[in-house]
Order: sequence, then C-alpha cells, then structure tokens
Amino acid sequence: MEAVSDAHAPVVYGLNDIILCHTSISHVDGHLGQYRYRDYDAIDLVNNCALEEVWCLLVDGELPSPARRARFADELAELNTVPPALAGLLPAVARLGERPDGIGWLQTSVLLLARSLDWPSVLGLERAALRHQVLRTLVTAPVMLAALHRLRQGLEPVPPDPALGHAANLLYMLTGEAPPRAHARALEQYLMLTAEHGMAASTFAGRVIFSTGADLGSALAGALGAMGGPLHGGAPTLVLDMLDEIGSPEHVEPWLRDRLVKDERIMGFGHRIYRAVDPRVEVLRRLAGDLGGARLDLARQVERQAAALLDEAKPGRTLRANVELYTALVLEAVGLPRSLFSATFALARLAGWSAHLLEQHTGNRLIRPVTAFAGGPTVPVPSPAERGSTNG
Ligand SMILES: CC(C)(COP(=O)(O)OP(=O)(O)OC[C@H]1O[C@@H](n2cnc3c(N)ncnc32)[C@H](O)[C@@H]1OP(=O)(O)O)[C@@H](O)C(=O)NCCC(=O)NCCS
Repeated sequence: MEAVSDAHAPVVYGLNDIILCHTSISHVDGHLGQYRYRDYDAIDLVNNCALEEVWCLLVDGELPSPARRARFADELAELNTVPPALAGLLPAVARLGERPDGIGWLQTSVLLLARSLDWPSVLGLERAALRHQVLRTLVTAPVMLAALHRLRQGLEPVPPDPALGHAANLLYMLTGEAPPRAHARALEQYLMLTAEHGMAASTFAGRVIFSTGADLGSALAGALGAMGGPLHGGAPTLVLDMLDEIGSPEHVEPWLRDRLVKDERIMGFGHRIYRAVDPRVEVLRRLAGDLGGARLDLARQVERQAAALLDEAKPGRTLRANVELYTALVLEAVGLPRSLFSATFALARLAGWSAHLLEQHTGNRLIRPVTAFAGGPTVPVPSPAERGSTNG
C-alpha cells in the first residue's frame, strides 16, 4: 500500500547504497578499487581470457572448459543471422535523423529483433528459451549495428566472417577489412572489461522493465536508453570532444578551471561507487599506450590536472578518472568511429544485462518502489466556474 504521505520522510536520492537484490553475477568494491565477475577478479579475466569465455561465465555462471567453450562458440555461430524481414528494414532505420545515433540504432535493432521473432512476455518463459534469446541478441546486435553504420554511408553491409572472433568481426563488419591482431585484441579486452559492473543505472532499468513481464527486447531497449545518457555510457564521445576543445597542453589547466568555475562536469571523471582508482582506468591507459595515439599525452595531463583541481573544488569527494576517459582513446585507436563509442560500450554491456535478466527471471518479483508525497492536503475539485476565475 502506498501509505507514505510525508514531505519529511527520509528519501535516498539516486538510490545511493540501496540494496536491490542478492546477486552472484558481479561485485564492485568502490573502496578497494576492485570488481569481479562471479568468482573471479575481472582484470584477471581480461588479461587471461577470450570474450566468449567471459560471456559464458556471465550468462551460464561458469568459466568453460575448452570443450564447453567450443560448444558455446558453435552455439553462438548459428545465431548471428539477421531475420530477412528485419534486414529489409535496416536501410530505412539507417537514414533516420540528422546524425548517426548508435544507441538509437541498437535500441531499434533489439526491439525489431524481438518483434520479428515474436518473442513473447518473459513471464512463464522457459529459462532455456530466454537464454537462447539472450545469446541471439548478443551475437546479432553487432551485425545490425555495423550494417546500419555502413548503410548510413551508402555502403553495403558486410556479413560476419566465421573465421574471426567477435571483437575482430565487429571491426571487420564496419570496414570490410580484417583488423590487425593488436586492434582486435584491444577491442576484445575492452569488451570484457566493460561487460558487467553491478547495478549500473542501465542494468537497473533493464531489470525493472523485465520484472513487469515485458519481452526481452523491451527490457534491453530500456537498458540501452539509460546507457545513452552522458552521466552513464554517453561520456566517451564527449571525452574526445573535450580533448579536441582543449587542444594542447598549455590549455589543459585553464580549460578545466573554467569548466569548474561554471559548475560544469568534467567528462570521464567521478563515479558513484569508486572512491579509489577505477581499476578499468589502468587497463585502458595501458591499452591506449600500447596502441599509440596522438592524444595520449594530453589525456594523461588531463587525468593528473583534473584530479588535483577536483580535489580543490570538491574537497572530500575523491573524484578520479573513470572508465570513459581512456575508452575514448582506445576505441579511436582501434578504428571505431566516434559516433559508435557509446554503442560499443552498450554491445559490451549486453552480456552483463543478459546475466542480470536471467537472474531476475528466477523468482521474479515486480520492482515497484514507493514515493513520499510532498504535496498539500486533499481538497475538493473546484467547479469549472471556480477554475475559470483562477486559471484565466
Ligand atoms: C558519474 C557521475 C554521474 C557520478 O555521480 P554521483 O556519484 O551521483 O555524484 P553526484 O552527481 O552526486 O556529484 C557529487 C558532487 O561531485 C561533483 N562531481 C561529480 N563528478 C564530477 C565531474 N566529473 N566533474 C565535476 N564535478 C563533479 C558534482 O557536481 C557534485 O558536486 P556538489 O556536491 O557540489 O553538487 C558523476 O561523477 C559525473 O557526472 N561524471 C561525469 C560524467 C561521466 O564521466 N560519466 C561516466 C560515468 S562512468
């Protein structure tokens, strides 16, 4: 019952530190600056595994044996075809809007995939059927995103090459050329690094929609919508815009100071959970260094100087670089267009969302919080004449 009617009731804005559920998918320790996927340190996985192994760990709960991994890869290989009716709609979707919109394209793609395959409400759906839908989305989404990117440029889509891994295939489907190994591995490590991260706003959004019994496509489209915001996954493009605007080392400090004086946010800094170094930053900084790139020194300088200025401006908050700062550099260095940065982050996170939706499926309960009513007492509805005299 929604009985709370108290303007003074305690409210946790942003649901900070509110525990939604028990999970065995992942854990982020903001004080130690560590995060894990199931029983493993995430960075350990990124350094030692392939993407398909991490998907298997997140979706099925176990790091696969070599034989299990091969079976999982075979299963994925059969699922990456775009239904013909949907493929026929992609040219029209690609032409919509004045600017290319990677997140919007993914949202449209997952919804149309669900509609074209008649995916029903998840209520009462067998877990095996849901898992099948999840895997189908995971491998088809990059195919559709790459097709939309090419169609927008007036180019024919390039189908995936079965000889390439998923990360290499994304680059291949965008350009039509097999990427250098170093680029494919860096992108693969990025996709593992960002595959999952606790109850992020997008994950929460997906779980809420899923909990209503909607279909999988709707839950994923909702998660994608949350992911696109600049406070979440929309930041990496803005980071490159920021580095472009700063331009050269002597402009770093005045640019950052000016931003803080205007009380504007510095993109690529701060995090709701991390109060120490975000462990993803170190991996991405290293990857960006290995790949080389014009903006690396500038980004390092921004990282150092912004931390010092944020300490001054927001004492006691410990605002440090987050995952987005070097993401922008890594994705640019492997050849991804800026317009697809957020969508690439979202492709990575599809694996984590999928694990959460499968977990939500077991013992699902509608997620429905309450609000504290802060309006006045109930009064009689005024007559039209009374309203006319007060509302003009
Ligand atoms: C990620 C983010 C939304 C987390 O925010 P949060 O934990 O909810 O923190 P809040 O929004 O409550 O901010 C707390 C304070 O720190 C400030 N702050 C947080 N991040 C900041 C940033 N990047 N630049 C400047 N100030 C920042 C806020 O302005 C606020 O100041 P105030 O208390 O004086 O009003 C926030 O750090 C941010 O907006 N970062 C920039 C966008 C970004 O990089 N997003 C990608 C996240 S992975």
